[in-house]
Amino acid sequence: MKAIALVSTAGGTGRTTLTAALAVLLARRGRQVVALDFDPQNLLGAQLGIDALPTTGLAQALLDAGTAWHASTWRNADGVLFVPYGQVSVADSTHCDARLAAEPRWLGDALAELDLPEDGVVLLDTARYPSQQAEHALRCADLALCVTPPEPVACTTLVARLAALRAACANLRIVVNRLHPARDMQRDVLAMLGAALGDGLPLAQRVHLDVAMPESFARGTWLFDDAPHSQASHDLQGLANWLDAWLEASLDARHDAPLAGPAMAPRREDPSS
Ligand SMILES: Nc1ncnc2c1ncn2[C@@H]1O[C@H](COP(=O)(O)OP(=O)(O)O)[C@@H](O)[C@H]1O
Ligand SMILES: [Mg+2]
Repeated sequence: MKAIALVSTAGGTGRTTLTAALAVLLARRGRQVVALDFDPQNLLGAQLGIDALPTTGLAQALLDAGTAWHASTWRNADGVLFVPYGQVSVADSTHCDARLAAEPRWLGDALAELDLPEDGVVLLDTARYPSQQAEHALRCADLALCVTPPEPVACTTLVARLAALRAACANLRIVVNRLHPARDMQRDVLAMLGAALGDGLPLAQRVHLDVAMPESFARGTWLFDDAPHSQASHDLQGLANWLDAWLEASLDARHDAPLAGPAMAPRREDPSS
């Protein structure tokens, strides 16, 4: 099992949209996928097709040590297992953050309870970095996708936080979302970002802006089903293919290793042991 965190240093970059889309696209490629909403905005469930915002989830487990973190688990139409953050008041949100600060292994311990096959994947949607939720997710992640639109505020905050992000997760990739190449400003910002990142972090993963993306969400459908030949659908499929290949390569590397670990537990319906 691999954990992939979606993080960003600005709000509204597309973390939740991409987490949901990639969860569904990887599930459709035959992978067992668990999606965790680790953001008090609690919106991932809506993206995954759950009608009402779920009231209980990870937050209630953070607030009450007697509640299992996976007590509220959902499965969407594509078979993605999903645990919401849950609804929290401002005061409760502060308590959740305090517990996460006091217990830096909280999310890691939770993920260790998952009984996914070795080719399974956990996708972690996160609150905007810096936050306790993003820190936890980066700490646990085998790969972090740092989502940014090619816009000045998002890219300036990303460059300012880059060293901290790299220190938190060694395997970081930048995903440029809402790309509109006809805009001169975006081209300039991308050039600035590319120079700041250097050769170590190529801007290879890109998802174009498509005004139909929020419209598909509003209809409760997927852009890649509504308009499979659109540029953004092509980009999302390409990103899912890239992740699928990365997951496969991680598996091969593990099998090729001279000291292989013990056999994994058999597949189970319940994500928790
Ligand atoms: N590639 C895209 N093209 C057009 N709109 C997008 C794209 N990606 C995300 N959006 C829209 O941007 C808004 C913010 O996305 P969201 O995933 O909620 O961001 P975050 O989780 O980072 O706060 C949503 O309305 C979403 O539909
Ligand atoms: Mg979000």
